Amino acid sequence: MNGKRVFVVFLVLLLSGTVVQSQQRQWIIGMSQCNLGEPWRVQMNADIKKAAEAYPNITVVFKDAQNDNLRQSAHVEEFIRAKVDLIIISPKEAVPLTRPVREAFKKGIPVIVLDRKVVGEDFTCFIGADNKKIGKAAGRWIAAKNGGKGNVVELKGLMTSTPGQDRHSGFRDGIRESAMKVVFEADMKWLEPNARKEMESALARYSAIDVVYAHNDPGAHGAYLAAKASGRERTIMFVGIDGLPHEGQMYVKQGILSASFEYPTGGREAIETALSILNGKQVPKGITLKSRVFTRDNIDTGGAWLEE
Ligand code: FRU
Repeated sequence: MNGKRVFVVFLVLLLSGTVVQSQQRQWIIGMSQCNLGEPWRVQMNADIKKAAEAYPNITVVFKDAQNDNLRQSAHVEEFIRAKVDLIIISPKEAVPLTRPVREAFKKGIPVIVLDRKVVGEDFTCFIGADNKKIGKAAGRWIAAKNGGKGNVVELKGLMTSTPGQDRHSGFRDGIRESAMKVVFEADMKWLEPNARKEMESALARYSAIDVVYAHNDPGAHGAYLAAKASGRERTIMFVGIDGLPHEGQMYVKQGILSASFEYPTGGREAIETALSILNGKQVPKGITLKSRVFTRDNIDTGGAWLEE
């Protein structure tokens, strides 16, 4: 190769290298998780990590707020100061996390809100399943299985978070036309030990309990343990939400829960949406994920999708 040719080849390589480099622009995504104390959230982070691994130009920085609104706000502020390219947040509570999310959004950092909502519209995209629909489907399913009547204990998720509110109102809608009666309700704040304690009170007060509707599977399992400890687990039907393979679906297989309604984590969808945003594409303001119901009859065949 003569000198001129070497130079030309070098130039071509350099230019193509530059092109490759600009296509491979490195993106930093900040992911603010409200807690990692529950299997469902561990799964969400794992889903995000797995989806991001398919894209070598994405780095996801994870923060765990340990169920503390102030800590979670501080994490979002840190991401803003570090000028990350995009923020994904699964907020603990709607009101306290609205301000930092708005601040990031107003400063031009795209924000994907995952699973629990914030107040208002100052974010780029919300991804989650329809909790009202899930609650309503649970109510209808429970009413149908109980011949339209019976006593219900409702163990609610954190009622200052939107899934708790929607799973509650949806459920009430679902049992409206039946004679199902909610005799006891309590906010167990998504946590199994709280659910167990609340159920102990319900069992002590009511000799006739037909169904426990818990806003998540840890809650339903906590209630089951309380009932088992007082020898009443066989006379009560337990229904939960989340439907993780190694949690809700397993409880259904084991005969602990009668049904678990799937609440997908949205981790994969969050990364795909993040990439679209980073590549300058328009994304919808809301993405609604589909969910299934797992029961003893359909668990071996993959559950049944909730109707549109
Ligand atoms: C985990 C969790 C899930 C529930 C979701 C609602 O923190 O409680 O069990 O489905 O949050 O946001």
